[in-house]
Amino acid sequence: METLLLTIPQTEGYDSQLDRAAELIRSGQLVALPTETVYGLGADALDPEAVASIYQAKGRPSDNPLIIHVPNDRSWLDRYCRQVPELAYELAEAFWPGPLTMILKRDPIVPDRTTGGLDTVGIRCPDHPVTLEIIRRADRPIAAPSANTSGRPSCTRAAEVLEDVGGRIAAVVDGGDCRVGVESTIIDLTGPTPCLLRPGGMPLELLEALCGPIQRDPATLRQMSGSEQPRAPGMKYRHYAPKAPVTVVTGAAEKTADYIARQGGPTTGVICFEEFAGHFPTSQVAVLGPLHDMTQQARNVFSVLRSFDERQVDQIYAQCPESTGLGLAVANRLKKAAGFHVIELEGER
Ligand code: TXA
Ligand code: MG
Repeated sequence: METLLLTIPQTEGYDSQLDRAAELIRSGQLVALPTETVYGLGADALDPEAVASIYQAKGRPSDNPLIIHVPNDRSWLDRYCRQVPELAYELAEAFWPGPLTMILKRDPIVPDRTTGGLDTVGIRCPDHPVTLEIIRRADRPIAAPSANTSGRPSCTRAAEVLEDVGGRIAAVVDGGDCRVGVESTIIDLTGPTPCLLRPGGMPLELLEALCGPIQRDPATLRQMSGSEQPRAPGMKYRHYAPKAPVTVVTGAAEKTADYIARQGGPTTGVICFEEFAGHFPTSQVAVLGPLHDMTQQARNVFSVLRSFDERQVDQIYAQCPESTGLGLAVANRLKKAAGFHVIELEGER
């Protein structure tokens, strides 16, 4: 299959590109779409066959449910979810469109294929005008996992989507680089208290200011053993990993830089803060962003992880931001890429 590249902001005929993408979705095809977090691999969430082809194109295990993407309109929440708590409407009001996914009881209209057979559904309104307009024109909720092939770092640029799933999907809508760079924060609202299933682009502190304390699913903190079942099925899989093994080093930045420099060699990859880029002359360096600029780090983390697959490295060491604000999501993605192989140095910052 030849994958169409539908470039949106830069071309004329913008309107017909949106119609084309919406029409492809309505006819059961796969279209990769830009969101503020990462690119999604979209299909009609109500069409089980279209959804099945998402799993095929990504090589994704079929028990791993998909998030459905909807407009910022209360009636869509009511259409696809049941027993919606008041808190869900309050969160949507405060944070949608934006990088927040809520897990709610599903309405049976949402097929099993989409929810991996669960009686709940993940739902979010993405903050991207192009994709919101395509959803509106398709008049369907769009199921979309991150557009990477399963296990690889997520895609934040259209070119990365083509690299991963080009030839297997009908089109990629190029909306430029993703602004946030890490996937949405996932909160489960089906229990007695809200629970964080995945840290992401919406800082936990902002959510807690509205919800009060949010529990953390253990899968957000450590590697799950084979017999454990995390509440977000996707959290049990190896994820985001470059081909070479990754070690995350935590502690004061000067100390982690010195430690990593001592391990270095020509086939060592180093992920570091901008301030330390000159610290590893014998290694292959990729810069995450300035030490205190977690917004920038979030934008870069996946392309930095991806960059090592084009280089000759046999091990990768990474400095890691503090787990506050967006740093929680950046640190989580690095630690997951490392299979939670973390070296903690003395003397916290
Ligand atoms: O920012 C994002 O969320 C991106 C963009 C494209 O919207 N999407 C994304 O989807 O990251 P995906 O499929 O790569 O990750 C979704 C995660 C998986 O870990 C999955 O197991 C979990 O959400 N999930 C989906 N539905 C769920 C449900 N009903 N209950 C628990 N976890 C769920
Ligand atoms: Mg994903």
